[in-house]
Order: sequence, then C-alpha cells, then structure tokens
Amino acid sequence: MGEDAPLDDGYIEPSKPREEVRQEPYPLPKDFEWSVLDINDPKQIKEVYDLLSLNYVEDDDASFRFQYSAEFLEWALKPPGYYKEWHLGVRVSSNKKLVAFISGVPVTLRVRGNVFRASEINYLCVHKKLRSKRLAPVLIKEITRQCNLLGIFQAIYTAGVVLPTPVSTCRYFHRSLNIPKLIDVKFTFVPRSMTLARMIRVFKTAAVPHLGGLREMEEKDVSQVAELFTRYMQRFDMAPVMTLDEVRHQFLSGRGDLESPSEKYRRPGQVVWTYVVENPETRRITDFFSFYSLPSTIINHPKHNLLEAAYLFYYATDVVFDAGSEHNGTLNKRLSSLVGDALIIANQAGFDVFNALTLMDNVGFLEDLKFGAGDGLLNFYLYNWRTAPLAGVKAIGGVDAGKGVGVVML
Ligand SMILES: CC(C)(COP(=O)(O)OP(=O)(O)OC[C@H]1O[C@@H](n2cnc3c(N)ncnc32)[C@H](O)[C@@H]1OP(=O)(O)O)[C@@H](O)C(=O)NCCC(=O)NCCS
Repeated sequence: MGEDAPLDDGYIEPSKPREEVRQEPYPLPKDFEWSVLDINDPKQIKEVYDLLSLNYVEDDDASFRFQYSAEFLEWALKPPGYYKEWHLGVRVSSNKKLVAFISGVPVTLRVRGNVFRASEINYLCVHKKLRSKRLAPVLIKEITRQCNLLGIFQAIYTAGVVLPTPVSTCRYFHRSLNIPKLIDVKFTFVPRSMTLARMIRVFKTAAVPHLGGLREMEEKDVSQVAELFTRYMQRFDMAPVMTLDEVRHQFLSGRGDLESPSEKYRRPGQVVWTYVVENPETRRITDFFSFYSLPSTIINHPKHNLLEAAYLFYYATDVVFDAGSEHNGTLNKRLSSLVGDALIIANQAGFDVFNALTLMDNVGFLEDLKFGAGDGLLNFYLYNWRTAPLAGVKAIGGVDAGKGVGVVML
C-alpha cells in the first residue's frame, strides 16, 4: 500500500523447484482437519453449496447473501485441467462437518506484455461460528502451498474488502428488470421524481431480442468464438488467454439440461447463457455475449427468498476491428445493442436484475442501457506479480475507465 507503481512488471518472489516447497500441510487448530473435496461427488458439492449458501458474502446491511447453485459450483470449479487438490476444505475432526473452504482453478493470464499460468482463487469462506480465529490466513497459505506444489506461483483473486494492494478497483452497476420485486425487497426504491408506474415503463424491455442473426451459441461456433474472443481481449491490459477447450467450457458447458423441455430462455440447471450473432450470408460469427446466473438469498423477507441476478460475462464484436469505431461511437453503439439484447433475454428468462462491473468496455454503454451505479466495489489482486495499477473505476495513464481489466471472475 502506498508504494509507487513498479517500473517493471514481474514476479516478486521467484518460483521454486517442487522439492523446495514446504511438504507438510500447515497446521490447523486442534479439532479441525484438512479435506480435499471431490467435486465429482454430488454429496460433496452439496456440502460446499450448504456452507456457502449460509456463510458466504453478504452486502453491508446483511439483506442479501450470494447463493451459488450446486450446478454453478460444478461449472466454476471444474474447468479443463482443474486440480482436485485446489478444492480445499476444513472439517471438524469429530463429526466431519465442512466448516471452511477455499478453491483455485488454473488460468492463463496475460498482464500487459507477460503471459503466465496462474490460479484463480475464489470461494474463500469460513463458517460464521468460526470467524476471527485466523482460519482464513491458514486457508490462504495452504492453497498457496498446493499451487506451488503443482508449479504455479502466481494467482488472481478479487474481494470487496481492501487488502494490500489492489491492481484495480471496479464498481458494480445494476440494471433493474423486475421493478415491483426489486422495490419490495428494498434492492431499489422509487425516486422522488417518479411514480412506480412510470418507473416500470422506463425499465420495461422488449419481448424478443432485436439483433438479426442472434442465436444461442452451439458447439459448431467454438472455434470462431475463440478467435473473436482472443482478438477482442487484446484491448485490455489484463485478460485471460483461453484454449478451445476453455472456451467450450466457459460458454457452453453450463447451459443446463439440453434434453429437458423448458421455457424458451432458461433450461433447468442453466448457469451460463451465450449468444452469437451470425452473418446470414458469410456465416461468420460477428459478435457474441454471455451472462451467468448468480442468485442471492434475500435474508429475512416475508414474501421473497431469492433475488434472481444475472451477471454480464464476456463479450466481443468485430466492429472493434474497423478503424475509427472506437472514436466515432460505432463500437459503443454496437455493444449497447448486444448487451441490450442480453437484457431482453435475461428478463424473459426470469431475472430480476442484471449486474455488470466497470471493466472491459462496459463504461461506454452502462448509462445508455439504464444501469445505475451500485455501492459495491470489487478489488482485483494479483499474487506474486508486480504491475502498475490498471484502469478500473477511474481512467489511469491514458487508459479509459474499465479498459485496464479484461478478467471477469465468477
Ligand atoms: C473472509 C473470511 C473467510 C475471513 O475469515 P475471518 O474469520 O473473518 O477472519 P480470520 O480471523 O480468519 O482472518 C483475518 C485475516 O484475513 C484477512 N482477510 C479477510 N477477508 C479476506 C479476504 N476476502 N481475502 C483475503 N484475506 C482476507 C484479514 O485481512 C485478516 O488478515 P490481517 O490480520 O493480516 O489483516 C470470512 O469472514 C468469511 O467467510 N466471510 C464471508 C465470505 C467472504 O467474504 N469471502 C471472501 C470473498 S473474497
């Protein structure tokens, strides 16, 4: 904290050969034991789900708490090449109850000019009854050791809290969809200058998407989406580098039960929605967008118990490759149309609100699409990697707000 930006990017501590990495697990307080969770076992995913749904992140007034579904966790924790050792739990020795968790999944990250393997650390959680006993630092040290044992010495993670030292800070924005419910649960309110009826009218979305050639992404699109994604992400200072298998996993594998008959825009168990725009003549995929489902428990509400929230995930458009598109407004216009259709689909799929952060090119369309600034911030951190701050909420060093960050963490 407070240090000047480094002159050169690079690691802080050098990597070590495996035999120089500590070989014994870090000690836990007595009565607790380490437990690697088998995410292929539905019983064990359910244990993680139960722990997180009662003890994970809440908003400042303890009105909402993230409720990652079991299907979501399975999708998020098992990308191609995942390591089971990085799904790390702590159990009470006597009754084996799961009381803490932390996870990592492998990613390839590009930060400015450097590309390296890293782990994406997520879902750190300690049971409410075991807080403030310094269990979190032990979990963090142990997952770091597990990463080091497999030759990974860098990590990326996000947190609402400020720790030493964020590489970027982004703000959450919210696009209301289901106004009556959002008002009922006090997620939003009717401003003094408006009536409820007018507010409902203002936020109403169309019944069907507008873009010609828009359809759900399919297996046959994987290579074109991967190519478009890779080219588009060059715009950002920090971004994931994905293989074809990773693109398939991130955008297709969470589509829910494909066999089951379902309502038009949502399948049972669906966690991710990905749509492409196909040019009817050339059959080229010109654009894509995706969003995922992350509901929150509404704590202590007499009528509603679940806030259905969609979160903007990755997107790309080939408009960006036209010279001048960024300055003459055509890029922002295209992104507004794309994400505008995402809002329509999310509304039809039963989401109450659509969330996005001030990262990638989002700042250019949030206002146009009636997103409002939230009070939550998300800090981005790199472990054992030095780089100058990346443009997030604020523009930095000639890079526009948001455009430093091209990583969306689940
Ligand atoms: C975050 C959580 C695991 C911390 O556990 P805790 O019992 O409150 O705190 P502990 O006594 O174990 O550890 C305190 C240390 O953890 C650090 N810490 C707290 N939250 C952290 C986070 N999100 N990431 C990394 N470190 C964190 C604190 O800074 C403190 O370290 P310091 O003394 O060096 O400053 C726990 O509060 C929790 O499960 N919260 C709900 C879920 C959540 O917010 N998860 C993190 C999502 S990013």
